[in-house]
Amino acid sequence: MAFGDYQSEIYLRGLAGDLPVLPMTYAGLEAKASAAMAPSVWSFVAGGAGDEFTQRGNVSAFERWGLIPRMFVGAKERDLSIEVFGMKLASPVFMAPIGVLGICAQDGHGDLATAGAAAATGVPMVASVFAADPLEDVAVEFGDTPGFFQLYVPKDRELAASLVKRAEVAGYKAIVVALDQPVTGWRPRDLAAAYSLPLRGHSLANYTSDPVFRAALAQPPEQDLRTVVLHWSQVWSNPLNWDDLPWLRSLSDLPLIVKGICHPDDARRAKDGGVDGIYCSNHGGRHANGGLPALDCLPAVVEAADGLPVLFDSGIRSGADIVKALAMGATAVGIGRPYVYGLALGGADGVVHVLRSLLAEVDLIMAVDGYPSVGNFIAEALQRVG
Ligand code: FNR
Repeated sequence: MAFGDYQSEIYLRGLAGDLPVLPMTYAGLEAKASAAMAPSVWSFVAGGAGDEFTQRGNVSAFERWGLIPRMFVGAKERDLSIEVFGMKLASPVFMAPIGVLGICAQDGHGDLATAGAAAATGVPMVASVFAADPLEDVAVEFGDTPGFFQLYVPKDRELAASLVKRAEVAGYKAIVVALDQPVTGWRPRDLAAAYSLPLRGHSLANYTSDPVFRAALAQPPEQDLRTVVLHWSQVWSNPLNWDDLPWLRSLSDLPLIVKGICHPDDARRAKDGGVDGIYCSNHGGRHANGGLPALDCLPAVVEAADGLPVLFDSGIRSGADIVKALAMGATAVGIGRPYVYGLALGGADGVVHVLRSLLAEVDLIMAVDGYPSVGNFIAEALQRVG
């Protein structure tokens, strides 16, 4: 079945008077989710750093580029599949790590629901270390879809090694190390609500289930949340430097992907240090305001990566955005906030709806614009607007 067939399904159901329950646009998803979610959780997801200049820039950057259609191509069937890290994926799309999925779902188990959506769609989930359910339970829900594990590197190296080992044993197919949140950035919306997710004990299941983390506590985490939160706040993040990369590399034979790379020199140095993939992202503008849109950083990072796979996220709101990021050289494109809103509105089904909508739009743009396969998104397909 082609991804674009989601469109026919919707029109056909409409003949029986059946209209989509979930919104068909990002703006619609955002508006409906804002009404459905608890205000502090909504602000945590929707908000970003400072006055959100970077966050807005991530999105508006896509409006500065337009795609040029090609005719007489006969793109009757489109091939969206890619091969990356030795895996064949059905599409060049994945779900970016989001450390608040648990409480975004009505039942408090949004990490499991998202993993279920990965199984249903073939779209891999990058599971954050911040999760309401342990990474082993999340992995069980992946079905045949590969899953990746994202780590913030803790100060305690033994804890880092334990988390990575657990991910390996649970069957994750790659380790994504997020380098771009050594501390939590200045976030006025969360500050106004004095709302810190981890300090309230949310999303810490991977820590409280970890033998190394548990061994450092005076009593079992189930008995004393304050001690858990205190210990967690002391160990969760270690701002790394280049000297740490060989150690990081040595933790696992799984593909190692470094997230948060926006400068070509960093991409080059990470490649020299033996990473398997570069993840160009500014974390959706959540931690440092005043930055360039992530899309503007992508071409130079791709060039510096020199053939290494480049994952990209920050600002993807539509299928057209996905196509543009691919045309700029991304190997695979990460969806962030849009799927969280789908989760909040409809659990696993809501995430599936968002992913299928995005992929259908990609597929139909390829059909209309004459790009028969993902490999055909060459930079010449794009032109700066104005
Ligand atoms: C994130 N992101 C993130 N990244 C990461 O490496 N680990 C994490 O735990 C989280 N948590 C998280 C929570 C929330 C609420 C958001 C919105 C984002 C960043 C995420 O992976 C991705 O980089 C951004 O979401 C991309 O920006 P957009 O497209 O969502 O605006």
